[in-house]
Parts: sequence; C-alpha cells; structure tokens
Amino acid sequence: MSDLSLTILAETANDAQAVERLLERTFGPGRFVLSAYRIREHVDHLLDLSFTAWIGTLLVGSVRQLPITVGNVKALLLGPLTVEPPFRKHGVGRLLLERALRDAKAKGHRLVLLVGDEAYYSRVGFRPVPRGRATMPGPVDYSRLLVAELVDGAFEGVSGAIRPDWDFAK
Ligand SMILES: CC(C)(COP(=O)(O)OP(=O)(O)OC[C@H]1O[C@@H](n2cnc3c(N)ncnc32)[C@H](O)[C@@H]1OP(=O)(O)O)[C@@H](O)C(=O)NCCC(=O)NCCS
Repeated sequence: MSDLSLTILAETANDAQAVERLLERTFGPGRFVLSAYRIREHVDHLLDLSFTAWIGTLLVGSVRQLPITVGNVKALLLGPLTVEPPFRKHGVGRLLLERALRDAKAKGHRLVLLVGDEAYYSRVGFRPVPRGRATMPGPVDYSRLLVAELVDGAFEGVSGAIRPDWDFAK
C-alpha cells in the first residue's frame, strides 16, 4: 500500500452498518446459508479482535473473528474477510489478517480456524485441518477448513465438533 495511506482499526459498534454493506456487496445474500453463519447466529464477533481497513473515511476492508470451541477447546473462527474490489491486491487483506492473528495471540488465543482457500491463507500460516478432526455444523467443503496455531502445537490432540463458544452466547 505504498501509494495509499491505510489505517487498520479495531471494529466499533458504529461500524456495523458500513461493514454489513461491504459484506452484502462482496458475498451477497448467499452468505447467510454458509455453515459459518450457523455459528454466527449464536455468537457475535468480538469487536476487539475484528478489524476494519480505512483509507481516510472510506471503509475498504473488514475481517471478523468470533469465539468457538473445537471439542472442548476454545478457539476463534475467522471470517468473513473482505476487501472492496478496487482496493484488492495491495496487501489490505494480508494486513487485516496479520493484525487479527497478532492481536488474538496477544490476548492469549491459541487457535484460529476458518473456511477458505488454502492458497491464500497459507501465506499467513493456515493449513488444512486433517480430515475428520473437526466438524462444522452443516455442510462444508472440508478441504477448505483451515487452522492456524498461534502457539506451537496448540492443535495437537484437539478434535471434535466446532460450535459457538456458549460462554459468549447472544
Ligand atoms: C480474498 C481477499 C480478501 C484478498 O484481499 P486482498 O487485499 O486483495 O489481499 P492481498 O492484497 O493481501 O493479497 C492479494 C494476493 O492474494 C491472491 N488471492 C486473492 N484471493 C485468493 C484466493 N482465493 N486464492 C489464492 N490467492 C488469492 C491474489 O491473487 C494476490 O496475489 P499476488 O500477491 O500474487 O498478486 C479479497 O480478494 C476479497 O475480498 N475477495 C472476495 C471475498 C473473499 O473471497 N473472501 C475470503 C472468503 S473466506
């Protein structure tokens, strides 16, 4: 982003409408049937671990993380991540991801999961969840279920159903 001045900020309650409009433009109404939304129905994303990318007063990107459990281990589910089309391929997505993972680690989180393209997310340390180790509520392409360990070995021995972290239930 050498040519544009970009600011990454923690999401605030005031951003909700602008972020929802960005998600609507990027993913359309079809996003609500994704199985990750079955988790989002029950827990809100964590504002202090969700980030917005701004150029001046223009919102150009967003990433959210929400609390889940895998088996009985606490983790975060990352997503959606989106960047406004004209601003893609300038590193905004990567900056949002790096900030999300860095702050999650700083707050003591150990694991982040997501459903997305390994080719993209492997750049920031995600790798596929071994088949059968974790199950999402509802249908999902399991080759796209990825995990990043924020602490070495954090995924060792972790398995089971991915559920909302009920400690954060709406
Ligand atoms: C995915 C997305 C967030 C990336 O944002 P971005 O700001 O362009 O990302 P970056 O600038 O950090 O990285 C761009 C690079 O990632 C690559 N890339 C983008 N999407 C990719 C994908 N799905 N698979 C593999 N590579 C991908 C780009 O081709 C580009 O490659 P280059 O660096 O070799 O030119 C953005 O393209 C987007 O909003 N897409 C639509 C929504 C979406 O698919 N979100 C993810 C769903 S889980």
